[in-house]
Amino acid sequence: MSKIKNKKLAKQGKLSYEWARSHMQILDNTLNRLKKSKPLKGVTIGFCLHITKETSVLLIGAKELGATVAACGGNPLTTQDDIAAFLVSQGIHMYAWAGQTVKEYDWCIQQVLNHKPQILTDDGSDLNIKAHFGKQNQSLKILGATEETTAGVNRIKAVEKQGKLRYPVIAVNDADTKHMFDNRYGTGQSTIDGYLRAMNLMFAAKRVVVVGYGWVGKGVSSRFHGMGSKIIVTEVDPVKALEAHMDGFDVMPMAQAGKIGDIFITCTGMTSVIRKEHLLKMKDGAIVGNVGHFDVEVDANFLLKKSKSVREVRPNLDECTLKNGKKIYLIGKGRIANLVAAEGHPAEVMAQSFSNQLGAILYILKNHKKMKNKVIPVPKEIDVQIAFDALKAMNVKIDKLSKEQVKYMNSWD
Ligand SMILES: NC(=O)c1ccc[n+]([C@@H]2O[C@H](COP(=O)([O-])OP(=O)(O)OC[C@H]3O[C@@H](n4cnc5c(N)ncnc54)[C@H](O)[C@@H]3O)[C@@H](O)[C@H]2O)c1
Repeated sequence: MSKIKNKKLAKQGKLSYEWARSHMQILDNTLNRLKKSKPLKGVTIGFCLHITKETSVLLIGAKELGATVAACGGNPLTTQDDIAAFLVSQGIHMYAWAGQTVKEYDWCIQQVLNHKPQILTDDGSDLNIKAHFGKQNQSLKILGATEETTAGVNRIKAVEKQGKLRYPVIAVNDADTKHMFDNRYGTGQSTIDGYLRAMNLMFAAKRVVVVGYGWVGKGVSSRFHGMGSKIIVTEVDPVKALEAHMDGFDVMPMAQAGKIGDIFITCTGMTSVIRKEHLLKMKDGAIVGNVGHFDVEVDANFLLKKSKSVREVRPNLDECTLKNGKKIYLIGKGRIANLVAAEGHPAEVMAQSFSNQLGAILYILKNHKKMKNKVIPVPKEIDVQIAFDALKAMNVKIDKLSKEQVKYMNSWD
C-alpha cells in the first residue's frame, strides 16, 4: 500500500538512488556484507525520515536485509517525489509527497503505524509521539526505536522524564559520528545550497546572523564565513557564546543583530527565536530562514498572515511586505531550508548517519529483551567502527597506540 504524488517519476528516482549509493560506501559495504544472512527477515520497520536519495539507500538496504518497510516523510515539504516513486517500485510502502498539509502529513504517519512495525526509525519524533499517544496505537508491540536529530532526542527525552516511555529509544543523533559531521558539515553545506537556490544572491560581504552556536550553528557559521560573509552569532548559552567569540565571530543579542543583519539563519531547535518585534526592526530586504528541525523558530505566521501583501517571488522565497512598508523575505515558509529549498545533506555524510541508524536497528533486534525503556546512546563500539570505516572509505590511515603508550596512559607514576 502506498500514497505518493506520481509513480511515473520512478526512473529519475532510480538514477538519484544509484548516484547516492555509489557515494555512501560505508553503508553500501555493510549492506552487501549482511545481505545474504538477512538479519531483518520477518521484521517490519516504520521509518519517518526526509525522503531524499540518501534515505532511499537506507530504506532499500533495510529491505535487502529482509525487512518489510513502511515509510513517510519527516516533514510536509521535504519529500523528493521521484525518490518516493522509485521506493514504491521497489516494494516499499510509501506515504509521502512534497507539499503536504499538516493534516495529510499526520495521516501519513498513522499509515506507517498501521503496518504494525516492531522497530521505528524517526527524525524529529513525530512517529514516536504518535506511537505513544495516538489512541489507535496503544496495542502496538514496539521493540525499540531510533531517533535521528537533536530536536527529536529532546522531545523523546521529555516523554522519558514523565515516565511515559513505552520502549527503548537509541539517540542516534548523539553518536559522535552523527552530530559532529551531519549536523555540522552536512547542514553547513546544505544550508549554503538551500539559501543559494532560494535567493541566488551574493554571500560575500553580507552580514549573516546565525542564531544558535551548537553543532548546526557552528557548521553554518564556518561555511558562510568561507563564502565571505560577516558572521554575527546570537546565543543564550554563555559557553557557546564564548566559543563563537573566540572563533572570531561577533556575538550580540537578537534585539541588536536583528537591526543590522542581511541574512538570518535559525539553528536552535528552540521556539520563537525570531519574533515579530525583531522582524519589524529588520532592514528592508532582509532574508530570513530556518534550518532547525521544526518551523517554530521564526514567526512565519506573522510574516505570512499579518503582512500587507505576500507573493512568492522565486521558488521557496516569499516576499512579505509588512504594514510598516518594509519587505522581508522568508525562505521555505520557515521550514527546514536546506531540505525544502535544496536536497538536504550530501551522500557521504548521510552514509555515516545512516550507518548509525542501521547499527542501532540491528542492536535493538539483538538486545531488546535486556534493554530498559530509556533513551540510550548508540553503543560506543558502533560509533568507533563507523569512524574507522569512514576513514578507510576516504583512504585515510591513522596511528595506533603502542603497548608502551597504553601502559603510560594507565599509570600514575
Ligand atoms: N537542517 C538540518 O538538516 C538539521 C540537521 C541536524 C540537526 N538539525 C536541527 O537543528 C537544530 C539544532 O541542532 P544542534 O545539533 O545544533 O543542537 P545543539 O543543541 O547543539 O545547538 C542548539 C544551540 O541553540 C542555542 N539556543 C537555544 N535557544 C536559543 C535562543 N533563544 N537564541 C539563541 N540560541 C539559542 C543553544 O544554546 C545551543 O547552543 C535542532 O532542531 C536539530 O534537530 C537540523
